[in-house]
Amino acid sequence: MLAELKNKITVSELIKMKQRGEKVALLTAYDYPFARIEDDAGMDIILVGDSLGMVVLGYETTIPVSMEEMLIHLKAVVRGVKRAMVIADMPFLSFQISTSDAVKNAGTFMKAGADGVKIEGGREFIGTIKRILDAGIPVMGHLGLTPQSVKKFGKYRIVGKTEGEKKKIIEDASLLQEAGVFSIILESVPPDIAKQLTNELTIPVYGIGAGAYCDGQILVIHDILGLYEEFQPKFVKRYADIGKEVKKAVSSYIKDVKEGKFPVK
Ligand code: KIV
Repeated sequence: MLAELKNKITVSELIKMKQRGEKVALLTAYDYPFARIEDDAGMDIILVGDSLGMVVLGYETTIPVSMEEMLIHLKAVVRGVKRAMVIADMPFLSFQISTSDAVKNAGTFMKAGADGVKIEGGREFIGTIKRILDAGIPVMGHLGLTPQSVKKFGKYRIVGKTEGEKKKIIEDASLLQEAGVFSIILESVPPDIAKQLTNELTIPVYGIGAGAYCDGQILVIHDILGLYEEFQPKFVKRYADIGKEVKKAVSSYIKDVKEGKFPVK
């Protein structure tokens, strides 16, 4: 057990990486095989994101994702990871209703093997976040475009273009740091805000669609592999086109079966 912890990426290691100017690589994973591949490749933080609702479960948004669904995928990821820090995303309504629900749900993720939890939102949830931290659970913040509130934003868009939105993101980030979160994800915010916060905060700031100045970057694995065609944010870089390869392989298999070429007589 101690040896396992020794090889794990920890909160203090992430702070040191920021101080050394060393970039951190984060990516989502939702199952055992991808978690293993990412961990073997040297991923620093693996997020079991509630994006699983869209890219794995086929929901239109992340709103329907339940604790039960998150837990199945979290446990699969944990089984595949030795070194990376595994963060579990708190799904919609797992932390908004009451602080005791939130602490219980975050604790349930920790008991399932998570190294910490991520919570969308700022000042609205500071009290709840403090209670989760008091329970000894590391918390990652998430500001800017928070997909659980997509219906409030109207669409997936850049947040922080108006003075009001910019002020709120900057104030919320400092409230989150004061509360004790170990890092903050900035999603779809203008690069100048991300740069300012990366420079001003002592905790790491990780970006997704927030420009190049953050302490690290996070993307959704299905987006970088071409496995989710329904919606592709502009900031995504596609590193492979696995979806097309899978379709080619499956079509060849169908053809072989129909033509009696597989199995060979
Ligand atoms: O759910 C998720 O995958 C996320 C990341 C995109 C930051 O919240």
